[in-house]
Amino acid sequence: MFALDIGCGENIEPAVRLAVKGYSVVAVENNPYVVKEYKDRLIESESEKVSSVIPIIADARFLPFKEASFDLIIAYYAFDWISILGEPEDIERAACEVKNVLKRGCKLIVHEYWEQGKASRRDVLKSVGFTVEVKPGDEIILIAKK
Ligand SMILES: C[S@@+](CC[C@H](N)C(=O)[O-])C[C@H]1O[C@@H](n2cnc3c(N)ncnc32)[C@H](O)[C@@H]1O
Repeated sequence: MFALDIGCGENIEPAVRLAVKGYSVVAVENNPYVVKEYKDRLIESESEKVSSVIPIIADARFLPFKEASFDLIIAYYAFDWISILGEPEDIERAACEVKNVLKRGCKLIVHEYWEQGKASRRDVLKSVGFTVEVKPGDEIILIAKK
């Protein structure tokens, strides 16, 4: 099983949790300095599963993977930053890329910071063809199925 973490930042925890569940995880981040920090954190981690996590420098808007490569994709607080550091339409571009590399019937799990992010993310993910469920609760979590 292969998983992808989009805009992983320096936060190794989501990828390590998936590795513990048996996934081979690719963590994508476009800032090389952040990837360096991520790698250092993996080295410092006490989890035996860190060897199943591969961080790479790549742009979520232009993912370097074949179509239908992943069984699960996660994006922790990343979509807003893709547009903050890029252009507003980059969210849609990244959503299309994510959909392309996700296997049919599989899920993208998106964590968001704020209420407005929930509505706009739901609309964007729907517009590129995902079926979207917003999880009830304090945290803003969207489950998008291809
Ligand atoms: C708010 S941080 C979240 C990091 C991490 N997922 C977490 O849970 O803490 C968003 C990250 O997305 C990265 N990012 C922004 N635009 C990106 C892009 N086009 N491709 C890949 N990563 C991007 C930023 O460099 C930043 O590290």
